[in-house]
Amino acid sequence: MTTTISPLIAGNWKMNCLRGLLDELTALAGMLTTGEAPRAIVVICPPATILSEVAQLGAIAGIQAGGQDCHAQAHGAHTGDISAGMLADAGAQYVIVGHSERRADHGEIDAQVLAKAEAAIGAGLKPIVCVGETEAQRDSGEAETVVAAQLAASVPDAAGQHEVIVAYEPIWAIGTGRTPTVQDITHMHAAIRQQLTARFAEKGLTMRILYGGSLKPQNARKILAVENVNGGLVGGASLLAKDFYTIISSV
Ligand code: PGA
Repeated sequence: MTTTISPLIAGNWKMNCLRGLLDELTALAGMLTTGEAPRAIVVICPPATILSEVAQLGAIAGIQAGGQDCHAQAHGAHTGDISAGMLADAGAQYVIVGHSERRADHGEIDAQVLAKAEAAIGAGLKPIVCVGETEAQRDSGEAETVVAAQLAASVPDAAGQHEVIVAYEPIWAIGTGRTPTVQDITHMHAAIRQQLTARFAEKGLTMRILYGGSLKPQNARKILAVENVNGGLVGGASLLAKDFYTIISSV
């Protein structure tokens, strides 16, 4: 992990969690306030229905809240959608954009992800822009090319002046219990860093690059220690306070 960048661990609760899961958040807050001070910024991205509760409950323990997606427009006739400003109004400071599940379930393309990231910045949020290859793309040796293209087309120019976070999430590692080797993560994160510095110069050196995809208590220490891995985006293992706390403590 690059020492000059403070690491960030974000939990992506996806479409899980009724209000009952707030007990896990209370438990996590307890662990974070009684244990050793975490070395990472901790963010939870719950479903929008409980975002404001998460923002309020988490604040006690320094846990920040984020959305899982936002619309590219600030307001208007878009039934069922949520704008970045609404997330901010509910207490969010971050928002995930371009998650592979959004790209797959809703056919989101890079141009939309870019527009969402710009909308997030406009609303004062820090977008977490997700990129990652499929298993077939990795097998055919295209992983770095695919990720480079996504990065070029989804990360806004405004990242030069605002905080934008990149999350590298190989699609085949999400929810499968499989992860790339440390060597593969090292290569991909170095390539992403190189691309960010080529585009944003000094700023590119300080942008966080998170790893996501089956990050678990068992592998967190190893993966989070990789150079240019500045934290993680955690799905399944963020639902249990104990597991998520172990990951946070692995930084
Ligand atoms: P996972 O999900 O940790 O359950 O693999 C990660 C993600 O989709 O952000």
